[in-house]
Amino acid sequence: MKRRKYIIGNWKMNHGLEEIRTFFIDFSKVKMELNCVVAIAPQFIHIPILKELAFTTGNMQIGAQNAAEVDSGAFTGEVSAKSLKDMGVDFVILGHSERRAIYKEGHEILNRKVKNALKNELPVIFCIGETLSERESGKTFEVVKEQIEHGLSGISNSDMQNIVIAYEPVWAIGTGKNASKEEAEEVHQYIRTILPHRKEETSILYGGSVKPDNIDGLLSMPNIDGALVGGASLKATDFKSLCVSASRF
Ligand code: PGA
Repeated sequence: MKRRKYIIGNWKMNHGLEEIRTFFIDFSKVKMELNCVVAIAPQFIHIPILKELAFTTGNMQIGAQNAAEVDSGAFTGEVSAKSLKDMGVDFVILGHSERRAIYKEGHEILNRKVKNALKNELPVIFCIGETLSERESGKTFEVVKEQIEHGLSGISNSDMQNIVIAYEPVWAIGTGKNASKEEAEEVHQYIRTILPHRKEETSILYGGSVKPDNIDGLLSMPNIDGALVGGASLKATDFKSLCVSASRF
């Protein structure tokens, strides 16, 4: 079966209003039909303005970078999946390594977040990946297996339709050191075997220093269905070029 290709920009805590406007002017300069899922996850506060700007570019989806594990209550500073859904947000990224490392989000809370997002019909991009020391000690498969088993525990077959996996080796994120296409493919192939349901239908994206000059190699691999992109998604010309590449596969 043929899965769709995705290019998802994770803007993290970057870009102010002025840069956002410039991005969309540049992104829209050359009009072309993009035959892949194109999406950006900006800071929460910018979601409404991106929804508006994205409308002018055609089919771009707009997502969030995090969501709380419950719908409402005394959780100062949190944003619920329910409110994101109300605001027309298309998906949420959960389990990013920065959330795991800086904000200490572990398996249990991530599992609650995934379930709550799905309950609110908010599709999830679920991120997993090993650190450099875990890779060097031969633990890559063990680590991603644990992240999938705990993070997606209790997920039903039909829920799985609304989950996309992003394999992001932590040592490749923001370092300029991407996994080779063979290294990435080996892990993607393995991840497919341990998914709880819909092993063949589920899209698995690669993330970690994806750029216009390495995207084609990565996408040429049978189990790499797209990319979650940080740094290179901030510049419209690079992001557009990634989308054009993905449209060819
Ligand atoms: P990067 O980030 O493309 O800058 O390495 C990827 C990510 O964190 O999702």
